[in-house]
Amino acid sequence: MARRTIIAGNWKMNLLPESGEALVDSLISGTENKADLEVVIIPPTALIPLAREWVVDSTIMYGAQNCWHELSGAFTGETSPEVLKALGCSYCLVGHSERREIFGESNELVGLKTHALVQMRITPIVCVGESLAEREAGTHFDKIKTQVESVFQALDQTTWLRLVFAYEPVWAIGTGKTATPDQADEIHRFIRKTISEIAGPALAEGISILYGGSAKPSNAAELLGKESIDGLLVGGASLKAEDFSNIILAYN
Ligand code: PGA
Repeated sequence: MARRTIIAGNWKMNLLPESGEALVDSLISGTENKADLEVVIIPPTALIPLAREWVVDSTIMYGAQNCWHELSGAFTGETSPEVLKALGCSYCLVGHSERREIFGESNELVGLKTHALVQMRITPIVCVGESLAEREAGTHFDKIKTQVESVFQALDQTTWLRLVFAYEPVWAIGTGKTATPDQADEIHRFIRKTISEIAGPALAEGISILYGGSAKPSNAAELLGKESIDGLLVGGASLKAEDFSNIILAYN
């Protein structure tokens, strides 16, 4: 089963409407459509209705960085997956390490949110990854296995194939330290093996696993060249039109 290749730019809490629009304009003019590549922008929630207009007449897709796991109700300040669907989001990040660390999101909450998203037919990009301390202690495989397993447990089997994962070693996020392509490859293979144990090899072959953590133009081609790496989740470098364009152009 062919896996989709995705290059997604996570803007985090950056950019104003004007700068977001200028960035998208530059991406549209500075890159070319590739039939087998999905380019996704993931702006802050408040900019999503604008992003929808910016990408009209292009093949760029857009998504959200977070949502709540209920569709409506007394959850002040939260965003419903149903609203994201109505706004045309194709993707939503879940369990980014900043959500897990700063906002205390547990594996259980990540599972609930993932469940809500698949019900709305929004593709969740579930982020998993270890801290530096966990890598140094050699507990990173266990950590990632638990994160992956808890997501599958939260879903009906019929929706498993709608998942996308992103391996994001926390020590590589925003630090300039990228996992080497071989380090990323090792974990991507481990994640696919874990999925295969839960869901079988055929399903594991169909689920895309992106790499994130200081992805940039200078390492994009080598990372994307690994058979186990199905795309990139880009933070800092997705805020600069030239860098993000060059990352997209690195895919062939
Ligand atoms: P970075 O962020 O590319 O700036 O390291 C990646 C992410 O947090 O998704």
